[in-house]
Amino acid sequence: MSGKLDVPRIGVIGLGLIGGSFAKALKQAGTVGRIYGFDTRAQEVRLAEKLQVIDEACDSLPDIAAKAEILVLATPVKAIEPVLRELAPHLEKSHILTDMASVKGAVAEAAVKVFGEVPANFVLGHPIAGSEKSGVAAANGDLYKDHKVILTPTADTEMNALDQVVKLWRATGAQVLMMSVPHHDEVLAATSHLPHLIAFSLVDTLAGADDNKEIFRYAAGGFRDFTRIAASDPIMWHDIFLSNRAAVLKVIDEFSADLGKLRKAIDQGDGETLMGVFTRAKAAREHFSKMLEGKAYDSNMNSQNLTYIAHQGSAVKGDIRVPGDKSMSHRSIMLGSLAEGVTEVEGFLEGEDALATLQAFRDMGVVIEGPDRGRVVIHGVGMHGLKAPHGPLYLGNSGTSMRLLAGLLSGQSFSVELTGDESLSKRPMERVAKPLREMGAVIETGDQGRPPMIIKGGSQLRGVHYDMPIASAQVKSCLLLAGLYAEGETSVVEPAPTRDHTERMLKGFGYDVAVDGSRAAVNGGGKLSATKIDVPSDISSAAFFLVAASITPGSDLTLRHVGINPTRTGVINILRLMGADIEVFNEKEVGGEPVADIRVKYAPLKGIEIPQDQVPLAIDEFPVLFIAAVNAEGETVLSGAEELRVKESDRIQVMADGLKALGVDSEVRPDGIVLRQSSIGSGSVESHGDHRIAMAFAVASLVSKSDITIKDCANVATSFPNFWELANEVGFNLRPAGEV
Ligand code: S3P
Repeated sequence: MSGKLDVPRIGVIGLGLIGGSFAKALKQAGTVGRIYGFDTRAQEVRLAEKLQVIDEACDSLPDIAAKAEILVLATPVKAIEPVLRELAPHLEKSHILTDMASVKGAVAEAAVKVFGEVPANFVLGHPIAGSEKSGVAAANGDLYKDHKVILTPTADTEMNALDQVVKLWRATGAQVLMMSVPHHDEVLAATSHLPHLIAFSLVDTLAGADDNKEIFRYAAGGFRDFTRIAASDPIMWHDIFLSNRAAVLKVIDEFSADLGKLRKAIDQGDGETLMGVFTRAKAAREHFSKMLEGKAYDSNMNSQNLTYIAHQGSAVKGDIRVPGDKSMSHRSIMLGSLAEGVTEVEGFLEGEDALATLQAFRDMGVVIEGPDRGRVVIHGVGMHGLKAPHGPLYLGNSGTSMRLLAGLLSGQSFSVELTGDESLSKRPMERVAKPLREMGAVIETGDQGRPPMIIKGGSQLRGVHYDMPIASAQVKSCLLLAGLYAEGETSVVEPAPTRDHTERMLKGFGYDVAVDGSRAAVNGGGKLSATKIDVPSDISSAAFFLVAASITPGSDLTLRHVGINPTRTGVINILRLMGADIEVFNEKEVGGEPVADIRVKYAPLKGIEIPQDQVPLAIDEFPVLFIAAVNAEGETVLSGAEELRVKESDRIQVMADGLKALGVDSEVRPDGIVLRQSSIGSGSVESHGDHRIAMAFAVASLVSKSDITIKDCANVATSFPNFWELANEVGFNLRPAGEV
């Protein structure tokens, strides 16, 4: 027997839905040779032949073993042992065996009983696909397409056998994954076996009720959807539960305990517990389905390879409101969670970064409703009410989440691990770990002081005074948040003013913060009281439009309700120094933060030396300010901005590289860049997964000679989920690659 895949002879043993669909899918793919079939139910074999699901029927197991090279066991779990026993004397060394049963431990045990071991040419497998229908008549050649199949090879499994089985599954359109036998059985007990058990049980309970006809008559969509799988094959499921006893019993116990808690909550009128379970479940369900579809929290972040083609736009005109401030959105969740009472937030930024913070607090037991069109309701748990999360807190791309949480979590009784995506995993964390250790925190960072951060619980923090070596609002905020849990006073002095949202919002929650020039201090041991927060539009997002309108002739754009906290208005100050026509009006204070409408019109810009004191006040806006600089007469010089090198990307180098690709030369310096007026050509730029780089080059397209291709744009959703649509509304012409 050759065992080659180009013309292998496949024998499918068990011609139900699963085996029949496998045979049909292989025939449909047209990649294999003859397909034989056998089933103890003679009528199923005949039907399979008649329906051309198989090429030829075999009348016994010895018969199929003699004819086929690859034997596929598609029988119920309980039948595997007798089938193997009968096949054993007829197997050659060159045969390859595989199976499709839902419980792998039981199949491995059956093989050991028959052969004394799991033979090296036996590849255990399980397709995660099915239907409540059964029988070969229901066979569907597309059943496995885009579904997962789990193979559970061991170190002893023959490579050739594994390769052949992988190739067969790929031919059906399935995606092949590998895991160990025990892991497979635990995962399936939770994700497949338990739901089937609950569906069978629920239908049986209702069917047994006296008024069952009434119940079924009125049971609408929810009941039908939920119990669809109770129509599955009883014999198969009987086998599965008895074969995977230990793993199934474990999840039944966990589920029963949680169901008991819900019962108690309903009995006692405990709405808080119900809301907690329901909001967490809703978020988890949405999160999981997005993850399964390859999407992250935000539905726009669905492809890491998202490429946009920025065609030339026209004058930028309109009256718009950009999404909520990222920094304030993070802080609203953090302080709202630690407060006593219910905090209501409006204008919350539903971007990836702020959602990562929101998810982290849900993972620590906080009940958070929403977000629903910017509205979030946080049921605060008080300063000591957070619970240990079940696993590491995943913070995506968000440096703010990781650094601020590091401070806040240093004072908790439980340990946590903070992790993030590829970009966040490269960012420096010692800048917060070091001063936190001085306060008594026990923190480990990864290689070269980068994430993951492991924060040990139970440390008593003590207040310290810290002179910050860098102007960073994240470091300042981290220490103030740790200071809430420290004995005595924690004070920080910053070398230059940085955003003060933490100080302002703490005051809004009734916590005393002493601010005196560059010094901010808190005393530990106080409490936060719930409040209402109205998050204004993010000036960092507005910045793209301020530059867009400033550089595009004929532009006249109004941006509404923008946060104009003086620690954030560097972009307005710098653009005005360059000659921009920006009018700030309707100024008012909302919840302790200054807010205004901004009107910006086209004006010829001139190059400047950017004042050093403006650098921390415009730290996030430099990518787009570089585009303004390239459009300004003469030369623009930025220095004292080395921090830009450790943002979501090295923003000095990445911008210089992108500009170069568009024919614009620059002079890169360790702490800044020199840019001269030049025309922007067409080309392809990499944004390195950095949202602000992608959006900056989109702005460049307004004045470029021809199209700019912007690669790796998915992370725009971290701070500005609807950027592309909003930009197109006011004069941009941005299209995802592939769309005309
Ligand atoms: C932020 C502070 C800034 C900024 C970041 C948000 C904050 O970082 O770049 O986007 O919310 O505190 P640094 O404090 O590290 O400069």
